[in-house]
Amino acid sequence: MGTVAALTRIFYRLPPAGEPVIIPGYDTGVTDADAVFAPYSACFYGSATSALAASLVAAVARTDTSTPEVLLPAYGCPALVSAVLFAGARPRLVDLEPDRPWMDLDALRSALGRHTAAVVAVDLFGIPERYAAIREVLADTGVVLIQDSAQALPPPNDSGWAGDYVILSFGRGKPVSLLHGGAVLAQEENLLCALPRPPEAGARRTHGSLVSRARLYNLLSSAWLYWLPAGLPFLGLGQTHYRPLAAIEAADPELMEWLPINLRAHWRRNESHQLAIQAILGDWANACIVDLPQACGWEGANFRLLRYPLLVCDARVRERLFRCCARRGLGASAMYPLTLPRVAGLEQIFAGVSCPQADSFAKRIMTLPVHSRVRPSDIQTMRECFADAGIGTRVVDPKRISSNATF
Ligand SMILES: Cc1ncc(COP(=O)(O)O)c(C=O)c1O
Repeated sequence: MGTVAALTRIFYRLPPAGEPVIIPGYDTGVTDADAVFAPYSACFYGSATSALAASLVAAVARTDTSTPEVLLPAYGCPALVSAVLFAGARPRLVDLEPDRPWMDLDALRSALGRHTAAVVAVDLFGIPERYAAIREVLADTGVVLIQDSAQALPPPNDSGWAGDYVILSFGRGKPVSLLHGGAVLAQEENLLCALPRPPEAGARRTHGSLVSRARLYNLLSSAWLYWLPAGLPFLGLGQTHYRPLAAIEAADPELMEWLPINLRAHWRRNESHQLAIQAILGDWANACIVDLPQACGWEGANFRLLRYPLLVCDARVRERLFRCCARRGLGASAMYPLTLPRVAGLEQIFAGVSCPQADSFAKRIMTLPVHSRVRPSDIQTMRECFADAGIGTRVVDPKRISSNATF
């Protein structure tokens, strides 16, 4: 092995998701971050977890039950549960549709009841939930529909947002990262007014310290240095933990002024890596893989993924594919390894809850990166891993691709 190849094997490691922070000068020119979300108005918080908690506090306040419940997908970020518990509600889980990142609509219908205050629907990986269908299930119930769009950030005029409240995250590894922050968007005045105001921001960071933090993040998330933070256990990168939310946190107002420039850059990014990965998956579409964006109706233009998700037919084959990608530093991720009832700290809350489809999804999901640090040579290496992993038979004629391969 040549020296460059050896160094690449040791040090090259793409992060699984996220773009560098764009650092504006002192005078950003645009200070009204709110305006970029028009026709929505935004209320900023310190994280998406705080933003979700705020919207749930508002949803719970609209009900007249003393035992409010919030319905959530059984596979997802444990922060969803933290926010529900903070709002004083009981989280109830809804299983997924088979081989889809979506809630099972029949299960959602059965879980709805007189105590339901809100449904949280999640645009997992950037794939939109089916809001029209969920609205039909919720018709005339008065239940608040919260769209958790932490992993998706479509342009506001693109009809990508459909919840009564829409939750955004500006944390690490999100579509637009500022390392901190979140927002609730809403259009209706009464929904906006019902949101608890975040507390006054405490000690604010200076512009200089925000810039230093962002520069360090950008440096350490480059493919040649990412091995460093990824190897530090106390950072817990890529790990899934449940942490109770103690208080709704405030956003840093200066950092929120960085939003417009970062949002515009995000909306200008192209989808070339998505298309390239889709082409690889197209070659293997009758094998042991479900191309989730395609199976969910992506036609190449209408949604921007945070990561490219695929479902592999069984856990052992996923392991082989994942190991190959990990060895070659390709930024593959096995995502949340467990469904919410199995996450440490949540077993008691969800004792006896069964979610077979979500369990199966958790064992077989894998994502590939589509961010701007991915190079064409990485896509080529991904192609090699697919060929080596023994996932089945390659499709010779891509026109014969079946998008709903089932196993
Ligand atoms: C769907 C979803 N909602 C909420 C959150 C919480 O985001 P934050 O880290 O900004 O609190 C995450 C975090 O990854 C997420 O993926």
